[in-house]
Amino acid sequence: MSPRTARSSPGTIAIDEARLRLPDPAATRALGARLAGLLRRGDLIGLEGELGAGKSELARAVIHARAGAAIEVPSPTFTLVQTYDLPGLRITHVDLYRLGDPAELSELGLDEALDQGALLVEWPERAGAMLPADRLTVQLHLGDTPELREAVLLAGPSWADRLGRLVG
Ligand SMILES: Nc1ncnc2c1ncn2[C@@H]1O[C@H](COP(=O)(O)OP(=O)(O)OP(=O)(O)O)[C@@H](O)[C@H]1O
Ligand SMILES: [Mg+2]
Repeated sequence: MSPRTARSSPGTIAIDEARLRLPDPAATRALGARLAGLLRRGDLIGLEGELGAGKSELARAVIHARAGAAIEVPSPTFTLVQTYDLPGLRITHVDLYRLGDPAELSELGLDEALDQGALLVEWPERAGAMLPADRLTVQLHLGDTPELREAVLLAGPSWADRLGRLVG
């Protein structure tokens, strides 16, 4: 797929959609490390894809890169929310798979988490329209071989200027 341009500041080449082949978990982790370098307060990253697609693998790599160490990053499957106060950025890792109803979302404190840091959200679809629309969406699709994943990246306005650096 060829990148499409998005509205942006004059002279800036912006990309709002890209596709990447991730042949193995190390490639997914490398994407996570690049994402970590671009992440800032107020960012919402939606991680989409079926069970076992690699959403937690990617989130873990982002957190490790910002932490500068392989700290423990348990999957928030049961706690729903895990918060990491990392140098220069608080990252909140969320898994909404077990969210019963989008209305329960208000109890998770995600507005405040987004105010104070960045949000990595697995299964954002479960929130319906309760999460901000402006986000970077990373869709992970299973490939033809056990370790192949294809990532589709969709940048909202806040990410259009950064997607090129993420995939370039
Ligand atoms: N290219 C790849 N990228 C990411 N993970 C891969 C890749 N190839 C194989 N894997 C494996 O797939 C699994 C992905 O598991 P992970 O927990 O990240 O999935 P998930 O999308 O978070 O699932 P869930 O919806 O259950 O939370 C890991 O065991 C990982 O080693
Ligand atoms: Mg997961």
